[in-house]
Amino acid sequence: HGTSAINGQGHLTIGGCDVTELAKQYGTPLYIVDEALVRQRAREYVEAFKASGLKFQVAYASKAFSVMAMCAIAEQEGLSLDVVSDGELYTALKAGFPAQRIHFHGNNKTPDEILMALDAQIGCFVVDNFDELALLNALAGDKGLKVNVLLRITPGVEAHTHEYISTGQQDSKFGFDVENGAAFRAVREANELPNMELLGVHSHIGSQIFEVDGFEVAASKVAQFSLRVRDELNITFPVINLGGGFGIRYVEGDTPLPVATYVKAITDAIKDNFGAASYPIPEIWVEPGRSIVGDAGTTLYTIGTSKDIPGVRKYISVDGGMTDNPRPALYESKYEAVVANRAAAAAEETVTVAGKCCESGDKLIVDCVLAKPQTGDLLAVLCTGAYNYSMASNYNRIRRPSVVFVKDGLSDLVVKRESLDDVVGNDILPARMKKAS
Ligand code: LLP
Repeated sequence: HGTSAINGQGHLTIGGCDVTELAKQYGTPLYIVDEALVRQRAREYVEAFKASGLKFQVAYASKAFSVMAMCAIAEQEGLSLDVVSDGELYTALKAGFPAQRIHFHGNNKTPDEILMALDAQIGCFVVDNFDELALLNALAGDKGLKVNVLLRITPGVEAHTHEYISTGQQDSKFGFDVENGAAFRAVREANELPNMELLGVHSHIGSQIFEVDGFEVAASKVAQFSLRVRDELNITFPVINLGGGFGIRYVEGDTPLPVATYVKAITDAIKDNFGAASYPIPEIWVEPGRSIVGDAGTTLYTIGTSKDIPGVRKYISVDGGMTDNPRPALYESKYEAVVANRAAAAAEETVTVAGKCCESGDKLIVDCVLAKPQTGDLLAVLCTGAYNYSMASNYNRIRRPSVVFVKDGLSDLVVKRESLDDVVGNDILPARMKKAS
C-alpha cells in the first residue's frame, strides 16, 4: 500500500527508498514514514469536507505521532492541530505551526500549560471539566484575554472498540456528561464567564472504529443537545467538533471504510439534524490521528537470536520491541510483517516475533508467517505510524529509535536515535555517591 513496492533485488522499498539501504544508513530499529501517504490521507479528509459544502477544520491529533516534521506537514496540508500537553504544544510551536490553528485538549491541563497556551494565543481550548472552566477563566482574565472554548461532552455513545480506548460512554474520566445534566450546566456557566467565548461542544467516542453508526449517533446526539441549548438558553453554537477515531487496516480482516465515507456520514448527519431544525449549520471540526499517520509508518528491525521449542513455538527476536511499540503488550494489537530483504519470497514459516525487553509479554506478533527468517534479516512491521513512536519508552534503558521520512527516493532524518548519553542525560549522581578517584 502507499508507495511501498518490491524492487528487482527483492527488497522492500518505501517512498522509492530501498529499506536495506535505509538500515545501513540509519541503523535499526528504524521508524520509516511514507510522507506521500501521510499527505494523501490528509488530502482525503480535506477533499471530503470540501465536497460536503460545510465549513470545517481537520485537526490532526498529534498524540498519534508528534514530531516537528509531522507538524510541518500538517500545516502544509492545511490541517489544524490537536495537542494535549505542553510537550505537544511546544513541538508544534517550535515547528512554526500557526497558533491560531492549535486546539488544546486534556482532562487535567496544569496552570503552567494553560499559561503557555494563553501566551502563544492558541485558537481554542477544549475544556473538560468545571475546575478547568474556572481556572481558564481566571488565568485568561489575569492576562486580559478572551479565549475561544469548546466544551467536551460525553454523549453516551459506546463505540465498538477496545474497552481501554472507548471514551464516549458515561463512565469516562473525560468531559461533561449529557445525561446527568453536567453538560447543560457547563454551557450555562461558560456562557456567563467573562473571559471566554463559547464556540460549541466537542465529542470523541473512541478510537480504531470501523462502523459509521457510532459517528452518526454521536453527531445526532450532539445536535439534539445543541437544539436543547438553543431552545432553553438561546445560545447557538458556531462550531461542533466530533473528534477522531476513524479506523485503519492493520491486518487482514480489519475493515475500515474510506475516509470519504466517514466524512460523508458525519456531514450528512449534521445536515439532517440541524437543517431540519432550521439551526444555522455549524462549522464541523474533526480530529483524526491514527488514520492520518498509521498506515504510513513501518518499523524496521534486525532479526537477532531465535529459540525453537519443538512442537510448541519458534521465537525470533528483534532489536526493539515493546519499547518502540507497546501496543501489542497494552492492547493485544495485531500487526503484519515481512522479511524486508526477501520481500518477494514465499512466507512459509510461522514464528512469534519477540522484542528484546526483559518481559515475557514483549511479543510484537504472535504466529506471524514469514519467509524463513534468519539472523541478520531485516523485519518490517507494517502500519506502525500511529501510537508507536509517540508511546515509546526507555524501559530497560533502551534508546528510542530514529525516525526517517521517505519520499521520491529521498530520505530525511526527522528524529535522531537517542544516544547512550541521552539515556543518562537527566541522571544526577550525588557527590556522596561518586566513587573516590
Ligand atoms: N481526539 C481526541 C479527543 C482523542 O482523545 C483522540 C485519541 C483523538 C482525537 C484521535 O483519535 P484517533 O483518530 O487517533 O483514533 N493509544 C491508543 C489510542 C488512544 C487514542 C486516544 N485519543 C492506541 O494505541 O490505540
